[in-house]
Amino acid sequence: MLTLGIESTCDETACSIVKDGKEILSNIVASQNDIHAKYGGVFPELASRRHIDVIIPVIDQALNQANVQLTEIDLIAVAYGPGLLGSILVGLNAAKTLALALQKPLVPVNHVEAHLYAALMPHSSPSFPCIGVVLSGAHTNLLKIKEVGQYQMLGQTVDDAIGEAFDKAAKIMNLPYPGGPHIEMLARSGNPERYQFKAGKVKERPLDFSFSGIKTGVLYAVRGQNGSMLHEPVLSQTDKSDLAASFQQAVFSDVISKTLKVAENEQIKTIVLGGGVTNNQRLREMFSNAAPEYNILWPSLGLSLDNAAMIAGLGYHRYKILGKSISLDIEAATRIDLS
Ligand code: KG4
Ligand code: ZN
Repeated sequence: MLTLGIESTCDETACSIVKDGKEILSNIVASQNDIHAKYGGVFPELASRRHIDVIIPVIDQALNQANVQLTEIDLIAVAYGPGLLGSILVGLNAAKTLALALQKPLVPVNHVEAHLYAALMPHSSPSFPCIGVVLSGAHTNLLKIKEVGQYQMLGQTVDDAIGEAFDKAAKIMNLPYPGGPHIEMLARSGNPERYQFKAGKVKERPLDFSFSGIKTGVLYAVRGQNGSMLHEPVLSQTDKSDLAASFQQAVFSDVISKTLKVAENEQIKTIVLGGGVTNNQRLREMFSNAAPEYNILWPSLGLSLDNAAMIAGLGYHRYKILGKSISLDIEAATRIDLS
């Protein structure tokens, strides 16, 4: 069974063809980093316009790369949220049009859930329940996965999402957007003990995350205690590397300790991670060192950052559960609760 997946919830236009929910025949991602970089974040109106420009070429490319004709597609899967409304609508309308023209079923997929599914995709029967961790530009979620589609939210961020914290810290350090990969690169030669950053504690919600304090710590380290914007900061390359390493260390230590606390409480040995920040090799290394006795599942290459293969993969799975009763009556959702 061939599924065509479409993703356009934020600033990536993506299309992928996946066979039987597992085998990725193509995975095309058109990134918009070039247009948003000068704003230091995603400019929503420009994002929707770029999606409109590239959605059809991206779908064509995915079909070509998979060597598949449009008429051979059995199912259309689309990310209907959460994300930016104008962006979601572009992918959703393209998917509805295809489903209508081809007379094929259309299945809506939750983008955040798909990030978790990315690491599960190659495993035919992962042992449930597992602990799920979403670390993306817009989400930081810690949850119990009882089954694909059945979740119990255990912790989430009360302020910045983890990727957002990377991007904001990078901006303070004058690094390009998106900042995550730049911080990772700088951190490689840095001393993680030099700056003593600590993630915030959320009153009465010990599994929730708060990263905005660390970001302020980075601001003070760069600009001095009053955060003055009057002078351009003078940071040596060593200062920058140490700052990046210390930031990364504080953020990742917090994520790892909360995840392991939950895994221990729930007596669950499998941990599934997803989202753009899981591209970070230092995170993977720290997790493996801290939890050698756990089975840790990471997304494979090309499936950490936003992509449509995870949408097609989860879409196939959902279709198997929901059956053919799916209609075209799907609305874009800027927020969706996972539960
Ligand atoms: O999952 P994603 O592609 O988009 C959302 O759904 O939000 O994640 C994008 C985020 C950005 O904030 C980016 O800075 C971060 O993932 N990111 C990283 C790395 N690569 C991307 N953060 C840390 N280290 C990286 N290597
Ligand atoms: Zn994402």
